[in-house]
Amino acid sequence: MQNQYSRRLAIIHWLTLILFIAAFYFGHELDETEQAAAKFGLYPYHFLLGDAVLVLTLLRAYFIRKDGKPAPIAGGSPLANKVSTGIHHLLYVLLIAVPASGMIMLNTTGLLVAFQSHDVSKMPDLEEFAIHEIHATLIFILIATIALHVLAALHHQFILKDGLMSRMSLFGKRD
Ligand code: HEM
Ligand code: HEM
Repeated sequence: MQNQYSRRLAIIHWLTLILFIAAFYFGHELDETEQAAAKFGLYPYHFLLGDAVLVLTLLRAYFIRKDGKPAPIAGGSPLANKVSTGIHHLLYVLLIAVPASGMIMLNTTGLLVAFQSHDVSKMPDLEEFAIHEIHATLIFILIATIALHVLAALHHQFILKDGLMSRMSLFGKRD
């Protein structure tokens, strides 16, 4: 049985972290920006980065099927293994739901029409739509789940010292 994720799965994992932070940054900037014309310039970066996170998540699911993944770390209790698997599944669901809700917002609020006609005056007030709130709430839940995930990784690294982090390492020989 393998004891590491394949290199391409490790690359996808760390690339997702970087793209997620970048998508969040542009989403936050959009939220803070009042001027419609300035928002118009920022949107494409946010959409591209958010869509890239979705594509990477779908690729990750595909490569996990092909490459497999390591068995739960030795010595963990059955409950800890269940919680860990549950959090990983929740991360996958949210990594799909967050970009999907963003795309629904783009398509159902008239924002896409404003883009297609290059007309800033057609920009909808997104705050009026429930999907705006849904996107923000899903992001909040995703960030809380990532925080739990990172805390668990740090616990393994510094308290249990069981080498869990090396399973997601980009370097080293694969078996
Ligand atoms: C990992 C992926 C994504 C993250 C982390 C993310 C993050 C964010 C954040 C933090 C905001 C500000 C929320 C607020 O108003 O409180 C936002 C707003 C928004 N996002 Fe995303 N988003 C993602 C994907 C997408 C995608 C794929 C689309 C569409 C194709 C999208 C469309 C939007 C739109 C239209 C807004 C509203 C901006 C505004 O208030 O003018 N998002 N997003
Ligand atoms: C500094 C930040 C992070 C660290 C240190 C970290 C560390 C790890 C480690 C060590 C594993 C392997 C766990 C195991 O073998 O049981 C893992 C798996 C995973 N990580 Fe992260 N991670 C981080 C950020 C993220 C982010 C931002 C996401 C998603 C947005 C994410 C999503 C996942 C998923 C879905 C898995 C499970 C893969 C699977 O087995 O299906 N991680 N992470």
